[in-house]
Amino acid sequence: LADGSLRGRHALVTSGPTHEPIDPVRYIANRSSGTQGTAIAEALRDLGADVSFVTGPAATPPPAGVRVIRVETARQMQDAVTGALPADAAIFAAAVADWRVSQAADRKMKKGADGLPQLDLAENPDILAGVAQMRQGRPPLVIGFAAETDNVIENATAKRMRKGCDWIVANDVSPETGIMGGTENAVTLIAENSVETWPRATKSQVARKLARRIADHLGRGDD
Ligand code: C5P
Repeated sequence: LADGSLRGRHALVTSGPTHEPIDPVRYIANRSSGTQGTAIAEALRDLGADVSFVTGPAATPPPAGVRVIRVETARQMQDAVTGALPADAAIFAAAVADWRVSQAADRKMKKGADGLPQLDLAENPDILAGVAQMRQGRPPLVIGFAAETDNVIENATAKRMRKGCDWIVANDVSPETGIMGGTENAVTLIAENSVETWPRATKSQVARKLARRIADHLGRGDD
């Protein structure tokens, strides 16, 4: 595995959830554990890549031997991603919150002050789409994830086009699959001219297979 086929290559990986503050003590979040993103960063590192790991507040610790950039919100994640470029490959495994509270309170909101609080939401930037559609300095390989519960391949194929990324790793996160927050994953890799369903495996195995594909695509780092 540690064959150095990504030596000299810079890979950027986003991982984990984001937290979007409501006030200094409350936030909007999601159930992403960061397991798959962490495994991908490890697998890329093991192939010799120089890895920048931009992570939201995840349940699992970041891997050793990678450059860790910790963020909390989607906008901080976007800034960290921009700051970490250029990269040879960018893999967007983070579960970025779609919305933030448009004006987070800077003091703790008090119960019963003015009846029930109304949260006014704003849309977060789409970090993947922003990088995939860069006119200058776009990483040669941009990979997104699509967690779907219905019509997985159809929705993910449309998502690949809409976002402008090269590959989409699609997975079924229906509750009965146990994938979200679990240790296994069953994915379909969708590229411009191919759709490939991989057998269910551990998230580490999926990560190693993906890292191998990335290495094959980029070619050796020392040529
Ligand atoms: O649109 P959706 O959230 O399903 O797209 C998932 C893909 O887009 C993932 O790769 C995720 O990391 C990325 N994404 C992002 N910024 C967002 C939303 C999603 O980078 N604001």
